[in-house]
Amino acid sequence: MMDRQEQLKERFAQAGQGQVFAFWEQLGPEQREALCRDCREIDLEEVDRLVRTLVLSEAEESVDLEGLEPAPYIPHPEHGGDPQPWEQARETGEAALRAGKVAAFTVAGGQGTRLGYDGPKGTFPVTPVKGKPLFAVFAEKIKAAGERYGVRIPWFIMTSTQNHEATRSAFEEADYYGLDPEQVEFFSQGRVPAVDFEGKILLAGKSEVAMTPDGHGGSLRALVRSGAVEKMKAAGIEVISYFQVDNPLVRIIDPEFIGFHLLKGSEMSSKMIPKAYPGEKVGHFCTRKGRMLVVEYSDMPESMQEQRDEQGQLRFIAGSIAIHLFDVGFVDRIGSGSESASLPFHRAVKKIRTIDGKGSEVSPEKPNGVKFEMFVFDALPFAGNPVVIETLREDDFSPVKNARGVDSPETCRADQLRQWTRWLRAAGVEVETDESGLPGISFEISPLFADTEEAFLERWETLKLKPALKEGLVLA
Ligand code: UD1
Repeated sequence: MMDRQEQLKERFAQAGQGQVFAFWEQLGPEQREALCRDCREIDLEEVDRLVRTLVLSEAEESVDLEGLEPAPYIPHPEHGGDPQPWEQARETGEAALRAGKVAAFTVAGGQGTRLGYDGPKGTFPVTPVKGKPLFAVFAEKIKAAGERYGVRIPWFIMTSTQNHEATRSAFEEADYYGLDPEQVEFFSQGRVPAVDFEGKILLAGKSEVAMTPDGHGGSLRALVRSGAVEKMKAAGIEVISYFQVDNPLVRIIDPEFIGFHLLKGSEMSSKMIPKAYPGEKVGHFCTRKGRMLVVEYSDMPESMQEQRDEQGQLRFIAGSIAIHLFDVGFVDRIGSGSESASLPFHRAVKKIRTIDGKGSEVSPEKPNGVKFEMFVFDALPFAGNPVVIETLREDDFSPVKNARGVDSPETCRADQLRQWTRWLRAAGVEVETDESGLPGISFEISPLFADTEEAFLERWETLKLKPALKEGLVLA
């Protein structure tokens, strides 16, 4: 035991990171082991590389804008796209679903800081009447799709060390939100230590390293390391449907999207929405030297975001809403991370909770260090035949990110109500709304009743006694 600990200390000292053990003499055996556990998670070579390239290097991290072009995408039939390929895609997607080749995958390792919510973000209540949490909405969508295609769709959920146990308990308390517990698989994402501006690993306590989640891009290696990819392969899964925990509108199981992905032999496919205005804070699908990539809003100069084509349409119009499909073999390749095909890290200068030389906690008032994160869309340049399809914002995207204003619980609630209002109107029900299509009353349609407009029309048709639309109505 001691030997292993001494060896670890030695390795850190040699890497110039001996300060991690500064309080070693004051620690009891359990604390020492806790600290060593954190240290064993650290890849010192990786940290060294990150420090050299992202902390000590003078070069500003910037995206090469040379030769950047807007990425091509398949336009939605409602926006002038040819409906025929969409029909074909749908058939292909449905066949893959019936054959049990698709798994759902949520990245839920984030901390929900902007929302100011304490607890796993997936437990945040979002539906207008019942206040069902995000996880419940996803579970019901997965269940509904499974019933439609006669399969049990597996659901993988990536947590972080910080919220792993809380996430599991939430599922247990809620009886897995109606799913079979066997169908749901949790695993934690990796962590990377935060460093100060000299590249020294920071401590969060005398026996605790300041470790931070490695970003949603860490999901690819976590899928491999956790054994999830092996399980998927064994179960005959070929396509992973990736989505973020913050968006209850997401069409988790979208046969057309899956169909295009398969028909084009794509290793990674994505959904885009036309940006609502030049400054909208989403990533942009672009190409450079024949490769697809996403350029974050913060990395694209305003002048470029404002460029327009001859028709007056925004040139870089394709906004990323963080919905992707992955080929399982591709995840295996990228997630196993050979040097030539691994995701880059990005730096984020942050206020990091740490301790001072005496071991007292410091809550910094200004940024005191650097965190490292990977972004999942950085896998795009490695993907063969990547496909981007257009989706309708109102049917796929209304995230809860901020406590107030855009992308808040309020806007998300309104977008859910607008969607259900459209479905009801399509069925011939009169609904009073304002100009934006928002009804004056609150009601709720569970994905178990209907998860798409088409499903709603079918289900509504079968109801002998149609319920009156009134405040608090729940269709479940
Ligand atoms: C992200 C995208 C942006 C896209 C937008 C759409 C980035 C850098 N930007 O922005 O291009 O237009 O979503 O909504 O991603 N997560 C983890 N582990 C982590 C970090 C995040 O699982 O270590 C998960 C979160 O739980 C969440 C998702 O990733 O589900 C998104 O994270 P967040 O940091 O909120 O991304 P955004 O800045 O909103």
